[in-house]
Amino acid sequence: MNALTLLRPDDWHLHLRDGEAMRSVLGFTAARFGRAVVMPNLKPPVTTTDQARAYRERILAALPPGCGFEPLMTLYLTDNTPPAEVDRAAASGFVCGFKLYPAGATTHSDAGVTDPRRCDAVLERMAELGVVLQVHGEVTDPAVDVFDRELAFIERHLSGLVARFPTLKVVFEHITTRHAVDFVRGSRAGVAATLTPQHLLLNRNALFEGGLRPHHYCLPVLKRERDREALLGAATSGDPRFFLGTDSAPHERGSKEAACGCAGIFSAPAGIEFYAEAFEEAGALHQLEGFASLHGADFYGLPRNRDRITLVREDWTMPATLPLADGSIVPFRAGGLLRWRLAPAGAA
Ligand code: NCD
Ligand code: ZN
Repeated sequence: MNALTLLRPDDWHLHLRDGEAMRSVLGFTAARFGRAVVMPNLKPPVTTTDQARAYRERILAALPPGCGFEPLMTLYLTDNTPPAEVDRAAASGFVCGFKLYPAGATTHSDAGVTDPRRCDAVLERMAELGVVLQVHGEVTDPAVDVFDRELAFIERHLSGLVARFPTLKVVFEHITTRHAVDFVRGSRAGVAATLTPQHLLLNRNALFEGGLRPHHYCLPVLKRERDREALLGAATSGDPRFFLGTDSAPHERGSKEAACGCAGIFSAPAGIEFYAEAFEEAGALHQLEGFASLHGADFYGLPRNRDRITLVREDWTMPATLPLADGSIVPFRAGGLLRWRLAPAGAA
C-alpha cells in the first residue's frame, strides 16, 4: 500500500504549553489532527473554566487564519476543586474533561491530587453531568518500583474509583503495560485508554541504547517488550476502547539533556505518521482509522471529523532539532528515517 486516506484523526492527549513555546509546536498538531485534548499542566495549572477559556483563546489566536483545528480543554483536578467547577465546565461547551494527576507523578504535577478519594464529590458531579475523567495512572509511592507504578495505581486506586462511580466516563491515559490493557478490557462500559506512539514503537531498552537516552524518557516510562506487544495488540484490535493520544510533550533541549532530565517525548512533528508505522509493523493498517479517527470521538460523544488526510509511503528524515521559542527541541526519531509522510493539504 503506497497511500492511506483516513478520516481526519484527533489527538486525545496533547501538551501544547503556552506562549512562544506553544506557538512553536501548535502547527505540527493542527496540520494533522482535527482536534486535540489539551492537557492543563501549565505553571500554574489550568484549574478553572475561566483559565481554560483564556488558554483556549491564546491557542486559537496562534492558529493560521482558516485553520479549523479545535482545542478541547481540560481542567487540572486538585484536592480543592469544588463540585461547582464541574457545572461551570460542563456548561462551557469547550471543556471536555478533568485530568487527575497524582501529586508528584510527572511534569508540573505538584498541585495534583494526594488521594483520589478526596475528589469523590467532584467525581460524583462529573458522573452526573457526563464529564470525562482523564487519569495519569501511576502511584507516586517511592517504595514502589518505577516499572510497577501503573499496576499499583490500578490496584490501589483505579479499580475502586471505577466501581465507586459506575457511570463515570474514565480515560486511562497513555497506558504502558499489559496489566493496563487487561484492566481496560475487563472493565465496565465507559472505561477507555489512550496509547502513545512511543509505547507502541519502543520498549525500555531504548532508554539505554549505547548510553543514556534522555529523549526516550517519558512518564509513564517505557516498559518491557511483552508490554509493548500487548499495547500494539490492543491498539490494532479494532476495540473501540483504545484510541490515539500522542502525549506529545515538548521540553527545551537543555532541560532534557541534564543531570535530572524532564520527562516527555515530542512526537507532534509526525504525530500520525508514527502510528502508521506501528500499525504497519503489526500488519493492521486497516485498523488505523478506527483507532485514530473514530473511537475517541465516539467515546467523548463528539461528532466524527468529516474531512480526510492522506499519508503516502515515502521516506523522509526527521530534523535533528527544531525551534522551540528562542531555544531548540529534539523531536522523537531526531535525525532518523520515517516511512510515512503526510501529504500536503489538497494533494493526493
Ligand atoms: C508530560 C509533560 O511533559 O507535561 N510528560 C510526559 O512524560 N508524558 C506529563 C505527562 O503526561 O505525564
Ligand atoms: Zn501527558
